[in-house]
Amino acid sequence: MPIVAIADGFPQSVFDAFEHAGWTALDGTSWNESELFDHLPRIDAILVRSRTKMTADRIEAASRLRIIGRGGVGLDSIDLEAAKSRGIQVVNTPGASAIAVAELVILFLLALARRLPEADRTMKEELWEKKNLTGGEVFGKTLGILGFGSIGRLVAERALALGMDVIWHDAYPVKPGKGLENQCRKVEFGKLLESCDMLTVHVPLLAGTRGLIGAGELQRMKVGSYLVDCARGGIVDEAAVARALESGHLAGAAFDVFAEEPLGESALRRAPGVIMTPHIGASTRESQERVGTDIVRKIIENWQPASGRE
Ligand code: 3PG
Repeated sequence: MPIVAIADGFPQSVFDAFEHAGWTALDGTSWNESELFDHLPRIDAILVRSRTKMTADRIEAASRLRIIGRGGVGLDSIDLEAAKSRGIQVVNTPGASAIAVAELVILFLLALARRLPEADRTMKEELWEKKNLTGGEVFGKTLGILGFGSIGRLVAERALALGMDVIWHDAYPVKPGKGLENQCRKVEFGKLLESCDMLTVHVPLLAGTRGLIGAGELQRMKVGSYLVDCARGGIVDEAAVARALESGHLAGAAFDVFAEEPLGESALRRAPGVIMTPHIGASTRESQERVGTDIVRKIIENWQPASGRE
């Protein structure tokens, strides 16, 4: 029966489901680089999140590999060309973690507006700094959503419930659905930047979206506006955001994703008004159960042994 390596953190139910189906599930979550390379030649399938990159050399070393499961959305951590050239299938779980990401975005919008990290820090420093902690309301403010796929639309629904005006832009044709056509407005990219009080990014990292929000785009945003990126590192120029925060052009920014992960030396660490989290957008128990159920099903359903092998 097939052997699957579970390279990144998944709930126990994922191991149980593979074993129930008669597969051997190897726990690779603590493998170092050389242990990973030791195991690659014997595995038929691998299950990853964004931490374990399926690079060309790893795919090459995995001589039996038939399927890569990405428990999550982003495929930018997988060398799709290398997989394709070996006839290896790649499956992922778009939608399964969308609610978790949308909720984190709403949390960031409110936390930025109410200066939550500063308020929390002053309390832990045994201060009572109420007068310097006047924030703003999101009610009545304009939220710009860049990328109106499943996550962008969930953010829109939640922002509308908070009384925000929602505008959006997507480079691809999108049908908003769920009555969102009448409640949100599609605008051109430049108009989105110039009109919003808060901007949230929901596009994938592709050649055409790398560096999409740089110094020039930030300059077009309103003075005192906010930026949230829970999509993918590399889309927003982090150094340019740090400069925009230093100058006061941006009032705040929240990042869950970074061009380099784990985050190394970064000007964002010292910039004022920043909230940062370590790529936890999809990390809720509910989301990971959904992702796990979905990805195990897709791996098993799509499993095809190489000809001549069982
Ligand atoms: C995704 O692409 O699904 C998200 O960025 C979550 O990534 P993670 O599974 O590594 O947390």
